[in-house]
Amino acid sequence: MSQRTVTLKFSDSDRTIELPIMEGTLGPDVIDTRSLSSQGILTYDPGFLSTASCSSNITFIDGDEGLLYYRGYPIEQLAEHSDFMEVSYLLMHGELPTAEQKVKFVDTVRHHTLLHDLMGSFFRGFRRDAHPMAVMVGTVGAMSAFYRDSSDPFDAKQREVAAYRLLAKVPTIAAWSYKYNLGEPFMYPQNRFDYASNFLYMMFATPSEDYQPNPVLARALDRIFVLHADHEQNASSSTVRVAGSSGANPFACVAGGIASLWGPLHGGANEATLTMLEQIGDASRIGEYIRRAKDKTDSFRLMGFGHRVYKNMDPRAAIMRQTCHDVLNELGLHDDPLFKLALKLEKIALEDEYFVDKKLYPNVDFYSGIVMRAMGIPNSMFTAIFALARTAGWVAQWMEMVASPEQRIARPRQLYTGSIRRDFLPMDQRG
Ligand code: ACO
Repeated sequence: MSQRTVTLKFSDSDRTIELPIMEGTLGPDVIDTRSLSSQGILTYDPGFLSTASCSSNITFIDGDEGLLYYRGYPIEQLAEHSDFMEVSYLLMHGELPTAEQKVKFVDTVRHHTLLHDLMGSFFRGFRRDAHPMAVMVGTVGAMSAFYRDSSDPFDAKQREVAAYRLLAKVPTIAAWSYKYNLGEPFMYPQNRFDYASNFLYMMFATPSEDYQPNPVLARALDRIFVLHADHEQNASSSTVRVAGSSGANPFACVAGGIASLWGPLHGGANEATLTMLEQIGDASRIGEYIRRAKDKTDSFRLMGFGHRVYKNMDPRAAIMRQTCHDVLNELGLHDDPLFKLALKLEKIALEDEYFVDKKLYPNVDFYSGIVMRAMGIPNSMFTAIFALARTAGWVAQWMEMVASPEQRIARPRQLYTGSIRRDFLPMDQRG
């Protein structure tokens, strides 16, 4: 079949430009606009609403149908039958591991969980009340200084070691940022536990008492990790790719991803949702907050609602909603006032014309915040846990980007709207 094209026709002249149309295996066609800049034309798309910034074979989303696939596997099947280690392998290597590959992968990650001993002193430079995400941005970035032997993005072996180090050490950093807040001793990772149980152990154990991670909670947490592992070219993954496009080292790139994730419109929404629920405080005030969310003159938004790509139920939210009910049942928390309030808000927003018309469904952050709170995880750790899980995706996206022959430094242009050329004025002629 001959190459399909689209023709741009200028309304003020006879000029036309023909552009090739690219087809992926799934998803919308993409117009290849790369030749435009050499013809003196740029495309304009702030917020990248209509821009495919790269080609990728890692994750697919269909926002209208509410579909999410990692390497072709539907998220529902992975959440049900797989676990985070397997999913991390899948994202990084493109295929599900064999039994032997899985054992080796899990074992390698396990043996990288310890932090360089001097990193403990690095934590101590932060204020005690530092937000865990602030500590994570700083400490993950500082891994560049501690692990220089795996910081060359152009060396395949170093890339692999960096990937293992990030996957293994970010949970230790996240748990220690919490311990540091509490003023409790850092707990070293324990190789006898699985990934999620080990994280619970590092967060909640103390040297003075026996601590056994609850397997139901560990399974729920592992599912949260699976659901958050990757989500194609979202703000934080794009940040990692843009940072990496200049040849920056992987630890610095992932620190950039963590910074981007922190915002309340992205991963910070899980913490912001709980803060909002606490602010609403009582079901009688839901109407007032719904009114504010609809008011264009009020900057308030219903946190945990809406998504750039999903105009249908986010499939992760549907799974997390079920997990939410399972965890609330397991812990006997269905009557907790805050959880009742959350479920009431969900119901009202799902029936409200404004939210229905704009296709604003509860997103994964709405439910994940509730689940984590039910598990006894403090609000300030929600986004850190998201970051921990998304590290698998960031690493996979970064590795794909670095290895791609198409990759060039990310360098967008602009529509300049500033002053035209003018001459410098001496001080006595200004004003
Ligand atoms: N509450 C009230 N109104 C909303 C909300 C909301 N949560 N989200 C979107 N809208 C409205 C906007 O005001 C806008 O209305 P308009 O067309 O009348 O101007 C319309 O819906 C479209 O919203 P945009 O901001 O243009 O959509 P965008 O795709 O840029 O933003 C986003 C998506 C950031 C997720 C937005 O829905 C939002 O702010 N949600 C709350 C924060 C949140 O939960 N973020 C987590 C996202 S999921 C994740 O990162 C894992």
